[in-house]
Amino acid sequence: MRAGVIAAPGQARLARVARPEPGPGAVRVRIEGCGVCGSNAPVWEGRDWFAYPLRAGSPGHEGWGVVDAVGDGVAQLRPGTRVAVLSERAFAEYDTAPAAGVVALDALPAGAPFPGEAAGCAMNVFRRSGIAAGTTVAIVGVGFLGAVVAALAVHAGARVIAISRRGYALDVARGLGVDLAIPLADRHTVVERVRAATAGELCDVVIEAVGLQAPLDVAAELTRERGRLVIAGYHQDGGRQVDMQLWNWRGLDVINAHERDPAVCAAGMRAAAEAVADGRIPLDRLLTHRFALDELGAALEAQRARPDGFLKAVVVP
Ligand SMILES: NC(=O)c1ccc[n+]([C@@H]2O[C@H](COP(=O)([O-])OP(=O)(O)OC[C@H]3O[C@@H](n4cnc5c(N)ncnc54)[C@H](OP(=O)(O)O)[C@@H]3O)[C@@H](O)[C@H]2O)c1
Repeated sequence: MRAGVIAAPGQARLARVARPEPGPGAVRVRIEGCGVCGSNAPVWEGRDWFAYPLRAGSPGHEGWGVVDAVGDGVAQLRPGTRVAVLSERAFAEYDTAPAAGVVALDALPAGAPFPGEAAGCAMNVFRRSGIAAGTTVAIVGVGFLGAVVAALAVHAGARVIAISRRGYALDVARGLGVDLAIPLADRHTVVERVRAATAGELCDVVIEAVGLQAPLDVAAELTRERGRLVIAGYHQDGGRQVDMQLWNWRGLDVINAHERDPAVCAAGMRAAAEAVADGRIPLDRLLTHRFALDELGAALEAQRARPDGFLKAVVVP
């Protein structure tokens, strides 16, 4: 089969490798597409702790497609079923996944793209945020995750303030129906704008969805006394400093909204598929770029550079 390989930082190539066989309890999926994740950027840019070349198909972990073969002991999934998978090498024509990490996409139209792992993560972040009608929510970073959470929060009847760096991200947020969209400029300006918009109260829930120090600092400052600071961004590149005096004084509840249990991730994917099917997540508006497998490098570069008009890319074999 054909598979994309990240050969070195900033370098991708197409390879021919053996088609994987599903082991006991696993399925093989003919991949229809795989999302490019925000967390793919560091391995594309290069960091000391990654070893190159990556394994073929890696780090594609947002694949969807059609079950093609099942391993011993798999009774509940049949070849031909459209699914989203929790797998690790989905920048390829085929990938395998444990059956427990496979979610049927019966409710979605045939051919509709569905980067399930990403949508499922966002669904789980939303669930852990405890957002309800009337909650004042700020989302710091309107990438794919922030945008999905914004859509769900608007639908839930929350008052939503979106804060992001690019004008296009703010346009996306406005299109999703947020109440206010603010450029992620200097901390003081952002905090004062949110203070003014909330009559000095600040926000009940703040979701940090970038994964960098400065947006984390802004997010903490926007959280009201006894509010909930939800850290959804992955802080992959080392330690962070936090203003513990502020966290402590305000009595913040701090939630690291990240799931490791595959059963919880699969439940998130299932819930996300339902939310796409019933219109709570307008996925078609959020998947802005599509690349062929032999354009994997261009897809990862778009994810890194975030040109105007970009929100999320998918790679299709
Ligand atoms: N908790 C989870 O389960 C989970 C799941 C998936 C991903 N994540 C993490 O959550 C974060 C967002 O993921 P995503 O999928 O939404 O990624 P994404 O679509 O690539 O979005 C990245 C976000 O970060 C912002 N950003 C990037 N560089 C920035 C900078 N230098 N200064 C300020 N803002 C910057 C972008 O803002 P603009 O678009 O305005 O430039 C955008 O809002 C990442 O850290 C990712 O690793 C967490």
